[in-house]
Amino acid sequence: MDKYAVIGNPVAHSKSPQIHAAFAQATGQDMSYDRLLAPLGGFASAVDAFVRDGGRGLNVTVPFKLDAFAVARTASDRAQAAGACNTLKREGDGWYADNTDGAGIVRDLTINHGVRIAGCDLLVLGAGGAARGVLVPLCAERPRSITICNRTTAKAEALAVRFAERGPIAARTLATLAGRDFDVVINATSAGLAGDVTLPWPDGLFRPHAFAYDLIYADAPTTFLRWAKAQGVQRAADGLGMLIEQAAESFCLWRGVRPETAPVFALLRP
Ligand code: ATR
Repeated sequence: MDKYAVIGNPVAHSKSPQIHAAFAQATGQDMSYDRLLAPLGGFASAVDAFVRDGGRGLNVTVPFKLDAFAVARTASDRAQAAGACNTLKREGDGWYADNTDGAGIVRDLTINHGVRIAGCDLLVLGAGGAARGVLVPLCAERPRSITICNRTTAKAEALAVRFAERGPIAARTLATLAGRDFDVVINATSAGLAGDVTLPWPDGLFRPHAFAYDLIYADAPTTFLRWAKAQGVQRAADGLGMLIEQAAESFCLWRGVRPETAPVFALLRP
């Protein structure tokens, strides 16, 4: 039986085994999918041991997305653009790196939530690994503009330079964000995760009918989504859909079959 796993630290909370078990069952694929806890600093040896044990593919989560990119022999354009990898596939005696996070958010926004990215003004809050993974696929949807704003402005500016050829991307400081408004606002920061309730962004970022999207997912509405709602936003989603869609994209890369995602939504959020 072909073996797959999600590797991370911590990894116990991951919903990926449940998602991939549902995909495997629905598509009749004979495969196993487990959790793999790798020690910090021990990614490469954990991956080697997994291969010796018959491993064919991995999903990679915090904090190993850069290590995964480094162990790969070949990489997709989107993994290279992000400089990070959330999916490894065994090819011959080496690893192929992909990054399905961006495709996951684009599919969730456009297909599951009916958001038209083409022609819209988009704001991405944050400039860490998560933001970097979604920017190029978002650019490919041809928004009118993408604004990146980060607490540490230099990181937002570096991303705007790095992706300048991919689309109309510009960085803004928190101070110059005030007075601007957007059609889609994506939270790619970890602000609010630690329970902090005061978010740093100015009021008035949302146009009427704007869509608010949080890469974070949780059983209760996230701090960002509660803040957006208090601003009058009526269309919003957390990152559960992105998680499910990126998993489907990884599954498709490994097995050559695209699983239906709707039944998994019903499973994880009945
Ligand atoms: P990830 O891989 O999840 O993106 P990361 O690379 O550590 O993690 O990035 C975290 C992001 O959340 C960064 O953009 C960070 O801003 P800084 O670059 O200024 O550190 C942002 N972030 C974290 N806590 C925040 C807070 N309380 N307010 C605003 N931004 C925050």
